[in-house]
Amino acid sequence: MRFQAPASVAFPVVALHNRATDTVDSAFIEEPMNELTLDSMLQEHRLFEPAQDFIHRARINAQRLTALQDKANTDHEGFWAEQARNELSWHTPFTRILDSSQAPHYRWFDDGVLNVSHNCLDRHLASRGDKTAIIFEGEQGDTRHISYRELHQQVCRFANALKAQGIGQGDRVILYMPMVPEAVIAMQACVRIGAIHSVVFGGFSAEALKDRIEDAGARMVITADGGHRGGKVIELKAATDLALSRSTLKVDKVIVLQRTGKAVGMQPGRDLWWHDAIRDQPDRCEPAWVGAEHPLFLLYTSGSTGKPKGIQHASAGYLLGAIITMRWVFDIRDDDIFWCTADVGWITGHSYVAYGPLACGATMLMYEGAPTVPDAGRFWAVCARHRATIFYTAPTAIRALMKFGDEIPARHDLSSLRLLGTVGEPINPEAWMWYHRVIGHERCPIVDTWWQTETGAIMIAPLPGAVATKPGSCTLPLPGIVADVVDQNGDTITEPDQGGFLVIKKPWPSMLRTVWGDEERYRKTYWGEFGGRYYLAGDSARRDADGYVWIMGRIDDVLNVSGHRLGTMEVESALVAHPRVAEAAVVGRPDEITGEAIFAYVVLKGPRPAGGIDKALTEELRRWVTSEIGAIARPSDIRYADNLPKTRSGKIMRRLLRAIARGEAITQDTSTLENEAILDQLQGKA
Ligand code: WT7
Repeated sequence: MRFQAPASVAFPVVALHNRATDTVDSAFIEEPMNELTLDSMLQEHRLFEPAQDFIHRARINAQRLTALQDKANTDHEGFWAEQARNELSWHTPFTRILDSSQAPHYRWFDDGVLNVSHNCLDRHLASRGDKTAIIFEGEQGDTRHISYRELHQQVCRFANALKAQGIGQGDRVILYMPMVPEAVIAMQACVRIGAIHSVVFGGFSAEALKDRIEDAGARMVITADGGHRGGKVIELKAATDLALSRSTLKVDKVIVLQRTGKAVGMQPGRDLWWHDAIRDQPDRCEPAWVGAEHPLFLLYTSGSTGKPKGIQHASAGYLLGAIITMRWVFDIRDDDIFWCTADVGWITGHSYVAYGPLACGATMLMYEGAPTVPDAGRFWAVCARHRATIFYTAPTAIRALMKFGDEIPARHDLSSLRLLGTVGEPINPEAWMWYHRVIGHERCPIVDTWWQTETGAIMIAPLPGAVATKPGSCTLPLPGIVADVVDQNGDTITEPDQGGFLVIKKPWPSMLRTVWGDEERYRKTYWGEFGGRYYLAGDSARRDADGYVWIMGRIDDVLNVSGHRLGTMEVESALVAHPRVAEAAVVGRPDEITGEAIFAYVVLKGPRPAGGIDKALTEELRRWVTSEIGAIARPSDIRYADNLPKTRSGKIMRRLLRAIARGEAITQDTSTLENEAILDQLQGKA
């Protein structure tokens, strides 16, 4: 069980997504979820007040927070305009704040002109040129310190190299990179010239990469000969070659960073080495001055259908969100060493690695590899070695490292830490307490930050010098973020601890602008309920008597595996693409480390294996899904059945499958099943 002693809250949920357009068989369309039962956490009563000395030094104390909130509540747009004037360097200042005329395509500060890379680099040169921007540590122990001046030069050289290869404003560039400074350099170089990057997580497969290259209509891929992870070399160039050989779209160029020295094939005319591309390029590059709404990047994320969506962010609003949350939530100061462990392939690695820290002129840490190399103390060793002051990671990592006990962190000097953070999924109170005690030495506040790829920046989180925390709650919405929990009519739920839909009631600057190439999906997914008035997060939540928000889980068919989103449909599509699979249904089951694990029910084209067991096939299907999507989507359980349980109208009884996967008692009416015997098969009894 994810949480101790969960109490169930019955909560009516309407079907939120029209799945009729899905690419997979219509048999996969789920029954409307109208009596979905949501697990509510054990009532948590512990309250942790920030320490006096933290409050003393904090950017924002309770009094300042109240002032910010008052301002935001009385004049939402004026509040954000003031932040945008104070925090961003404009080439041409904006005169318009929010344009809602094309709602739900909101536009912020849209007559302003700026460049995001200029905001992250150039504006610090005079005051912080020699300050370290990036401290990098490779998995094998190699380290680099890059100053703001050096980073600026490298970004400029690479930006010039991109231009020399014919990349210009609005072109899409795919990045498929290891966690090395060059990933950030490539991102910054793209935005410097107005090109739109789309980073694909290095753990995704060639097939997933191909889909994103095609969907984005990319002209270039930037990759590496490999990256070090878990003591192995991840062969990114080989996967890129495979993706491009399958892609219907031919990219013009592939730039390859030499990271591991591993031999790779280079296709003449198409492929060139990073070091050759930047040779002779000047280290100055005038930024492309673009409108505030110029698309900054695309980042693909899973939804309820088989096809990931390209979330599109806009330049000024996105950067403002990243900056303001660095200040409010992370209390960032000039002497901090900020470490967010997320890979640049996720939104967290965009906002809190590639953009937010640099835009604030901070020093940040970047680590290439796995947390368990050479042992489970690597994170703590990195913190100690580089004197990290702020550490931000995912609950899944905390739970995994907690398993190794208290002695490993105790071997490392963690006295530099002053603030801890989590993101990606609800943190269970046990892991929270361990983080607090063993890593934070009961001295560091913990900021549990709720947000999404779509929101661009943290939305609900404590301000560490102003808000007392409760283990498992992301606490209160930030100033200017009008989050609410509503019922199916869109009315605010005032009763404490009643579950409902988490919505955002007013536009905010760092919100997504659209789904790339799929306007309809943008409207339906995020604005399809409540008459299009509210942004639908896709999460359920409750508020306690103090107004604190507790995230309860997704309300759609999206799984959260290790803090990362995966659509059940995506995994099902991958499974049915295997020649031996006729049908598949995927659900999540709670997992101690990863939060949720993938449980797949499979119907084969041929006969069901004797006794429901075929180890070789199970391994093959696992490998298959890994190669179709990536290791993150690998099913932990696969069960074979003669058919899947369906309602009379032919819809898969997913709630039944979920109950079976969780080992719960079956309460659903199974009398409509054609063949009740398959229940035994699904339960692994026959
Ligand atoms: C989904 C967004 C934003 C970066 C990481 C994931 C879940 C995120 C929390 C949290 C409870 C959380 C939600 C959300 N989630 N943070 N602090 N507490 N749940 O980004 O892949 O876009 O996923 O992650 O379900 O909707 P993402």
